Order: sequence, then C-alpha cells, then structure tokens
Amino acid sequence: MPFEDCRILRFPRVEDRRGNLSFIEANRHVPFDIERVYYLYDVPGGAARGGHAHKQLWQVLVAISGSFDVILDDGEARQRFSLNRSYNGLLVGPMMWRELDNFSSGSVCLVLASRPYEEEDYYRDYDHYRDNLRNSGSPPDFSQIKRHPENLE
Ligand code: TYD
Repeated sequence: MPFEDCRILRFPRVEDRRGNLSFIEANRHVPFDIERVYYLYDVPGGAARGGHAHKQLWQVLVAISGSFDVILDDGEARQRFSLNRSYNGLLVGPMMWRELDNFSSGSVCLVLASRPYEEEDYYRDYDHYRDNLRNSGSPPDFSQIKRHPENLE
C-alpha cells in the first residue's frame, strides 16, 4: 500500500547500433508472475487515464514509446512520476490510487499485471477507496509477492 512498494525499475538494455533491446522476465525483472499485459495507445492530447486503485493487483507501467506521467496517491500524499524511457518501469502496489496524464503524441503505455482483469478488484470511487484504507485493520498481504531487488533502481 505505501509508497515504499512503488518504485522505478530499470530493465536490462542490450545496446546495439542496429537499435537497442530491453527484456522483462516475470519474477526476475518484475516481482510477480505476469498474468496479463495491456497497453494504452492513441491517447488524445490532454486526456487522463486511470482514476482508480486496486485491492490486490500489482502492476508495472512502461513508457514503451513516448512519455506520460503517473500520479500516485496513497490516500494521504501524492507523488508524480514522469516515465519517458523504454527501459524503465513504475512498480505500483495494491491500494494506490493512480492517474495518468501528460501523454506525449504517439506514446504507448505498456502495463504488466499480476492478475487477470477483475472488475471487483477496482476501487473506482476515491472516497470509497479512502474509507477502505481507514477501515482496513491490516495492510494487504504482500507475502505472495516474490521480490528480486537486484534490478531495482
Ligand atoms: P480501465 O482499467 O478503467 O482503464 P484505465 O485505467 O486505463 O483508464 O479500463 C477501461 C475499460 O477497459 C474498462 O471498461 C474495462 C476494460 N478492460 C478490460 O476489459 N480488460 C483489461 O485488462 C483492462 C485493463 C480494462
């Protein structure tokens, strides 16, 4: 839930005159099994995405092309992350409210997710999310998440 579970990851880069290559392995470069991949593209100028939190889902967001910002909110503090490198990803844990904005023209946001799509995993109302933060006696169980911090920035 808190900000210490969210951080910028750096993926391997194979530099080559013919073009650079990065790769991401589950449970090595991201600390979970990748159950789903989705991507945002054709985002019109000025649009914002997100506006929700997840109960259990872990995600890594990557600016595969172009750039965008992710605003994370743990119910008390907000932090803005600018993603603009194909070899970086933002790890976002459960119970973090997130918004995405400032998409550059032609940008693509790739998301690696620890679970399949489950609408019941979402908090889509900020006040409801805040109430559940206050009411949850114990924080979410992170013990399922395998951590491989060697690639963390
Ligand atoms: P949503 O997660 O709200 O988008 P964003 O966070 O990027 O603003 O999803 C938008 C719609 O797409 C919603 O109706 C559910 C659907 N959707 C799926 O069916 N599967 C998925 O894996 C995702 C991420 C969304």
